[in-house]
Amino acid sequence: MADERIQKFLARAGIASRRRVEEIIRAGRVKVNGKLVDRLGLKVDPARNRIEVDGQPVNAGEEKLYLAFYKPAGVLTTLSDPHGRPKLADFLHAVAGRVFPAGRLDFDSEGLLLITNDGELAYRITHPRYKVAKVYKVWVSGSIAAEAVARLAGGVVLKDGPVQPAAVKVLRKEPGRTLLEITIKEGKKRQVKRMCAAVGYPVVRLKREAIGPLRLGEMKPGEYRCLTKQEVKRLKQQVGL
Ligand code: URA
Repeated sequence: MADERIQKFLARAGIASRRRVEEIIRAGRVKVNGKLVDRLGLKVDPARNRIEVDGQPVNAGEEKLYLAFYKPAGVLTTLSDPHGRPKLADFLHAVAGRVFPAGRLDFDSEGLLLITNDGELAYRITHPRYKVAKVYKVWVSGSIAAEAVARLAGGVVLKDGPVQPAAVKVLRKEPGRTLLEITIKEGKKRQVKRMCAAVGYPVVRLKREAIGPLRLGEMKPGEYRCLTKQEVKRLKQQVGL
């Protein structure tokens, strides 16, 4: 195999997402041929080099796992929590192998999460450059005005800068609340909630329905399932893998 950058190799080997892998390298937890890796971008050849994380050899031939998980509201998108709150790992005991979430949902948000050990796919799905559409069903407080829908669709300006235009549909109006479908291709922190708040309609409930070609479908909160070969293929195609 040709040389590749250490962070790309570790992500591909399923150690963590590429972003997280960079932190692991910076924390001094990675060795190549017994020497601490002190810079990102070091080129490695897994066939010739012995690569270790926390003293454990890394094998890039590990089987890839791809799961769709329905994160319930009130669960952290993390594998551990020092405060003992409900977390992803509580639902994944039966999963053999080390997996991690591709992206996140807020504690009080629910819906579709991709769980995998394919660090490169996870990186691309969450990176705005690859423009993977995430679809949300969003209840906002109040009866939304057409002008606010137009502002959401046009791309509002948040504290950390403008967001890209979104696809916005009004699905239902009930007394005191409106159900929207919002599709975005970025993933800034709490983006949908901040977008809705910025146009004056706070989110009361948020559920992710789709990530690219992957759908939540009829899954129930707390359930997970393996992706079909076709789903993995379509996800990879979307991000050029
Ligand atoms: N946008 C949000 O505001 N929260 C989420 O959990 C996901 C997208």
